[in-house]
Amino acid sequence: MADTPDFSDRMLSLGLARVSEAAAIACADHVGRGNEKAADQAAVDGMRRQLNMLDIKGVVVIGEGERDEAPMLYIGEEVGTGNGPAVDIALDPLEGTTLTARDMPNALAVVAMAPRGTMLHAPDVYMEKLAVGPGFKRGVVTLSMSPSERVSALASSKGVSTRDITVCILDRERHEEMIAEVRSTGAKVRLITDGDVAGVMHCAEPSTGIDMYMGSGGAPEGVLAAAALKCMGGQIFGKLLFRNDDERARATKAGITNFDRVYTRDDMVTGDVIFAATGVTDGSLLPGIRRTPESITVETVLMRSKTGSVRRMAYTNPIR
Ligand code: FBP
Repeated sequence: MADTPDFSDRMLSLGLARVSEAAAIACADHVGRGNEKAADQAAVDGMRRQLNMLDIKGVVVIGEGERDEAPMLYIGEEVGTGNGPAVDIALDPLEGTTLTARDMPNALAVVAMAPRGTMLHAPDVYMEKLAVGPGFKRGVVTLSMSPSERVSALASSKGVSTRDITVCILDRERHEEMIAEVRSTGAKVRLITDGDVAGVMHCAEPSTGIDMYMGSGGAPEGVLAAAALKCMGGQIFGKLLFRNDDERARATKAGITNFDRVYTRDDMVTGDVIFAATGVTDGSLLPGIRRTPESITVETVLMRSKTGSVRRMAYTNPIR
């Protein structure tokens, strides 16, 4: 890194906001139109175009898939102009393809940037996730606790009853027992149909009323969520889950040697990070795309872990 410019360039962070903005704007015509693939493709195209304008030596570490399965923004793809700091890029041009196609809440375009070699190369497998917002002692809840133990531990740390705790969980058959156990404590469960990056971020945003996130979802989304929490504060723990040998082979290819490791937030993102998310559909963190015959407006949140700064920006682009 010594021979490359400083990663934490403040102007570079503003450039990153344009990257998630571009992805959201590119898929504006696809919101609510039932075509997940078209929405995703438009977001990928828009994000890649803008990313390649940035003065960085970027490598995609969390992307659209492996080289042989994703034509663009694949893992290992070099992005940027090649002039500038060597960085890792984690991205999801459309986090919540189904949410977008169905115009349901909390679809986001997300991207994170960190110095080269500081973000986990998570394979495209599931990850067991557990997250809470800022202000709790380290390890207040852990993956080794049962769901009900986590609720009790968090409630006693907050000095409230378990009935005052709200847990966000993806609505999946595989989570039925977890949901029942959480409810048995008296806690509330906020079910989401998709979009666990937003689900995790909700824990660090008091206005959402969510205290804790738990359950399995995509491992790449886990790293993006860790990047977001590194900026917002809060803890996330993740453990990779393997369903077969192909998934274990993917992990080996990504350089993972310990398949049982529990990753903390700072294991997934070891250095400073910049995170940008733009709202695609209306959500609790960001409003969605507003389209009129004359213009498209999107809102972006841009955060830097180094300074803890959070910037919200609305951007209107005239339609010509
Ligand atoms: P897509 O945007 O790729 O559709 O992912 C949405 C998502 O809900 C993620 O947020 C989550 O991590 C993952 O899918 C969960 O996977 P599954 O639908 O297999 O439970």
